[in-house]
Amino acid sequence: MSKSKTFVALDVGSYKTVAVIGDLDETGKLHIIGFGETLSKGIEKGAVVNPSEAIKSIKEAVATAESNSGFRISSVVLNIGGVHIESKNEKDFISFSSSNKEIDQNDINALIEKISEKFKNDNIQILHIIPKMFVLDDDEIVYEPVGLIGSKISGEYNVITGKVNSISNIKKVVEQSGLGVMDIVVNPIASTTSVLYEEEKDLGVAIIDIGGGLSDIAVYKNGHLEAVKSIPLGGNLITKDISFRFKISKDIAENIKKQYGVASIEFVEFNEVVEVKSREDEETIKLEKYEIVETIEWRLTEMFEILRKELEKTGLYDRLNAGIVLTGGVANTPYIQHLAEKIFEKDVRIGKPKEFKAFNEKFYSPEYATVIGCLQFTASALKDKHVGSNSSEMFNFNISDTFTKFFDKIKNLF
Ligand SMILES: Nc1ncnc2c1ncn2[C@@H]1O[C@H](COP(=O)(O)OP(=O)(O)OP(=O)(O)O)[C@@H](O)[C@H]1O
Ligand SMILES: [Mg+2]
Repeated sequence: MSKSKTFVALDVGSYKTVAVIGDLDETGKLHIIGFGETLSKGIEKGAVVNPSEAIKSIKEAVATAESNSGFRISSVVLNIGGVHIESKNEKDFISFSSSNKEIDQNDINALIEKISEKFKNDNIQILHIIPKMFVLDDDEIVYEPVGLIGSKISGEYNVITGKVNSISNIKKVVEQSGLGVMDIVVNPIASTTSVLYEEEKDLGVAIIDIGGGLSDIAVYKNGHLEAVKSIPLGGNLITKDISFRFKISKDIAENIKKQYGVASIEFVEFNEVVEVKSREDEETIKLEKYEIVETIEWRLTEMFEILRKELEKTGLYDRLNAGIVLTGGVANTPYIQHLAEKIFEKDVRIGKPKEFKAFNEKFYSPEYATVIGCLQFTASALKDKHVGSNSSEMFNFNISDTFTKFFDKIKNLF
């Protein structure tokens, strides 16, 4: 019988909640085999603001994924975002009593433990410890120290943390929806996994995932993660602006934005008029398309200016030679690349998830970069575990001690 592993990623976003079932076949290829999506309720800027509404959205997305795949979902890998997510570069070293010790995984684990100690704090939780580089015996830069001989190994890591309470709140609503949380992947790391090329990370790149409530940023240079940040800016602000300016309901503003919106007035004709209803049961009104697009352009411009300042704070802005990659639903706005290039003064591309097979073309879209990336992150971990289940069974993700330890270890390898 063929062996494959089946697992689920859940993205409880500020705009949509998505559950995606992935199957890793025996050749290591990831297939999307189930999918459920619903508009999110009870989540704002990545945080739970109404637990019972959030639970309803999660249950609905999961039920749809179950019904179109035939699998029962008991556990998920969860994407999380939010302004409480932070990252810091941290260094430390381990010296050996022998001058020619062969470095093994236990030494690296001890180094990671030393780094983790620096983040011991009741309010924050480490979510990822990502190695940047190692220095052997104070003079040789190495990327994989295990198996090398030395008397001292120094390591630099990017440590991503989140607030314990914010993480507990999102985990709790997932658990109250009847699901186990087998692992957590922060949004920018997930989007990076599905979208970025290694060459871009080497050259220097910033990925910005602009969703409904959050802009999640990750910055890479020389192949390493340098910074992660989550800024409370997203497409919901554009919808609100349209709704306020034209005195129309938010739902109608959202539809207008998607139907007629483009990122810049350079791409609209004057005097183009669109007819819309201000509210479901009210009369049709006429709006200048130019004014709709002007509203979008103002807000996007302001968002990009703030995001540019955030990127400049990393000190790497001038060295991002591969430019900027945009993902998230807002990246679907026509001509957004053009506006972004003007403000960032860099090459901009729209990032679409790659390297998986799906039954529906819609997954190759920027708004699925996070959830698909979460599956791919998990798939890499599972590939290394060399275990399989029958293809007809759901991979057992109930959290066990071994499993948690396994994932902790794997996370440290990324
Ligand atoms: N074609 C489109 N044109 C303009 N905006 C769009 C389009 N498609 C989606 N959006 C916007 O993208 C945003 C949703 O993006 P996404 O689905 O990535 O959000 P999310 O992951 O749920 O939220 P977050 O990551 O902020 O928690 C919404 O504001 C939506 O209006
Ligand atoms: Mg998102």
